[in-house]
Amino acid sequence: GDVKLWGGRFASGPAEAMAKLSASTHFDWRLAPYDIAGSRAHARVLHSAGLLTADELERMLAALDTLETDVASGEFTPTIADEDVHTALERGLLERAGVELGGKLRAGRSRNDQVATQFRMWLRDAARRVTAGTLDVVDALVTQAKAHPDAVMPGRTHLQHAQPVLLAHHLLAHAQALLRDVSRLRDWDARTDESPYGSGALAGSSLGLDPEAVAADLGFGAAVENSIDGTASRDFAAEFAFAVAMLGVNLSRIAEEVIIWNTAEFGYVTLDDAWATGSSIMPQKKNPDVAELTRGKSGKLIGNLTGLLATLKAQPLAYNRDLQEDKEPVFDSVAHLELLLPAIAGMVGTLTFHTERMASLAPAGFTLATDIAEWLVRQGVPFRVAHEASGECVRVAESRDVGLDELTDDELAGINPALTPAVREVLTVAGSIASRDAHGGTAPARVAEQLGRVEKRVADA
Ligand code: ARG
Repeated sequence: GDVKLWGGRFASGPAEAMAKLSASTHFDWRLAPYDIAGSRAHARVLHSAGLLTADELERMLAALDTLETDVASGEFTPTIADEDVHTALERGLLERAGVELGGKLRAGRSRNDQVATQFRMWLRDAARRVTAGTLDVVDALVTQAKAHPDAVMPGRTHLQHAQPVLLAHHLLAHAQALLRDVSRLRDWDARTDESPYGSGALAGSSLGLDPEAVAADLGFGAAVENSIDGTASRDFAAEFAFAVAMLGVNLSRIAEEVIIWNTAEFGYVTLDDAWATGSSIMPQKKNPDVAELTRGKSGKLIGNLTGLLATLKAQPLAYNRDLQEDKEPVFDSVAHLELLLPAIAGMVGTLTFHTERMASLAPAGFTLATDIAEWLVRQGVPFRVAHEASGECVRVAESRDVGLDELTDDELAGINPALTPAVREVLTVAGSIASRDAHGGTAPARVAEQLGRVEKRVADA
């Protein structure tokens, strides 16, 4: 039958449109296991406070076990009359424990502290799944970096050729960003390690219940300091939404590069058939849909963050029903990431890099000009003069339609007497890359060290 949480004061039930507007079980049902865990913990503190006998506690826990089994099997499901997951499970408990015993569990708790606690619990588990999926993408980048220790490419700024770099260095740049996303989620988790259970509707409990015991029972390090804050705050949800939106944005930057690299004009990569799609009309097509869906979905993640912030903005303390709109955006972001992360890991891990093509482009566009200037600085020439001389090298080479390495000894000396033939040692891609050997640079030894540290961080994560 119908469970009314507030029957006493009301002469009639809700209008149909009211019930439809109110209903949230179509999205909050996923909180059911956490609601049941919370009910167990709550039953135990009711017992500790002398509000449930040992026998009642035992029967309550047995009823909750049955309810949990029935929820997991699909035997028990919410009906349209159940407003939300908490109400539905209350009905399920009353059906299993009897109205008399089941009705005792609601003492000292409110859906306001229940939902605030369970939402945190769900998000903490989701953060662990997202972290694992993100580390798989890092793994794929690391695998590719290790498979191509010597491959070179034109490094770019403004999408223009800038300086040659190692492909592994470039791939690890993406890995670094993703590892920050992982550490952001870990920091977030530490801040979210407080349970609001026991805050009641907003003011706390008068029944001698111990919120810290409930917190420990539910795997939290502490109970919230302030019951009003515990029920009203959702910055944990907004911060989570930001962390995953940032992850989405970082993934979109990988995606965008794969899309560009996969064009005929770049020709850097070929996509594995398993991670590409064809065209219904153009037989020759092999499209980077994983990357494009990543780019597209990252927009949704941004929207979910901004939508949630708009929901939270200017809400007076403490709980308002607006807060029911807090869950769908984050559930949605997590659902998209759980689809995306394995696909990106698969796509990245199976890319074929056309390293000869990348190597032939590495010096194009005078990417070694900075090397001339810096070589001159090492000979004692002031950088302003060196920059000028190197720029003149580019102008001469461009006018003759040759590379910097094809300038004659006379041409070099004519530009600046300090430009002796010895400058040719940096006029190769390998020489340029090897010369950038300070910490964090693209020299092979430095990149190998970086790779080792990245692998260690993945192993320790
Ligand atoms: N379903 C609500 C939510 O998701 C929790 C219920 C609180 N409702 C209330 N009228 N106080 O936020």
